[in-house]
Amino acid sequence: MISGPDLTVDVGRLTLHNPVLTASGTFGYGLEYDDFFDVATLGGICTKGLSLEPRAGNPPDRICETAAGMLNAIGLANVGVEAFCRDKLPTLRARGVTVVANIFATSVEEFVELARRVDREPGIAALELNVSCPNVAKGGLQFGVDPVAAARVTAACREVTRLPIWVKMSPEAGDVRAVGRACEEAGADALSAINTIRGLAIDVETWRPRLGNKTGGLSGPALKPIALRIVWELAHAVKIPIIGIGGIATADDAIEFLLAGASAVQVGTASFADPLASKRVLDGVAAYCARRGIAARDLVGRMIG
Ligand SMILES: Cc1cc2nc3c(=O)[nH]c(=O)nc-3n(C[C@H](O)[C@H](O)[C@H](O)COP(=O)(O)O)c2cc1C
Repeated sequence: MISGPDLTVDVGRLTLHNPVLTASGTFGYGLEYDDFFDVATLGGICTKGLSLEPRAGNPPDRICETAAGMLNAIGLANVGVEAFCRDKLPTLRARGVTVVANIFATSVEEFVELARRVDREPGIAALELNVSCPNVAKGGLQFGVDPVAAARVTAACREVTRLPIWVKMSPEAGDVRAVGRACEEAGADALSAINTIRGLAIDVETWRPRLGNKTGGLSGPALKPIALRIVWELAHAVKIPIIGIGGIATADDAIEFLLAGASAVQVGTASFADPLASKRVLDGVAAYCARRGIAARDLVGRMIG
């Protein structure tokens, strides 16, 4: 039997069977995509941001298309952590899906409560702290752009969970390396980079903003060069692994992120246009590694120059 390339990667103490995950908020709770392909074949899925209580999110419209991307201001609509643990997680667990729970809160205390709650559940591989959502009035950016505040959330969660903690970086931080280093010192196991960046679109017929929330987070291909630059900077600023996110739609995109220093990647907006995007990216990375006779882990941080 001819064996395929070694696609396993280490994200700190967590070994993933391949480096391709889906990004929070762009892949539901994973099971929605099961009709398209076996989501357990991915390196993992990041859940929609979970809060303590269910959230309805922002008023419509909540998404609009822009050149080379989209703006969203969903406002973290989600079923709440209890419903997720009760209704979604058991199926994901039974199906062998690697689940990263993305959590969102408006205070350090709520983050701690969420981390404690998720820690009790078997079948969660890691916790991703969303300290960088630009579409909510409270929480979100208030933590992610400030090294002290981001570290405070990280340290407080570290005390109550044994799960690996990934902290999601904001491109809007003045010095994202300082935020990354502060989170590393506070006990983060990895940094996810990046979340969306705030933008605005206006309807020229009505003269109104195209989103109910006025501003929204820009995602998609437009974000990719910024995300790559931040991943590369972070990879040189911290010792913990980086998970690359931002405009990844093809295997070549993913490979660029690995070469820039990411140990794994997340596919986001691309799944809206093509529900099979993450599988396509994974198959393409596997084909690339096979063709070059290289293991996925040996691409990490290997950009020359
Ligand atoms: C509609 C939508 C909803 C999102 N919801 C979340 C969320 O709940 N939590 C989070 O950490 N990031 C969220 N994000 C950010 C993505 O996970 C990702 O960081 C960002 O979109 C950049 O990747 P992309 O260009 O591949 O989409 C959301 C993005 C979009 C487009």
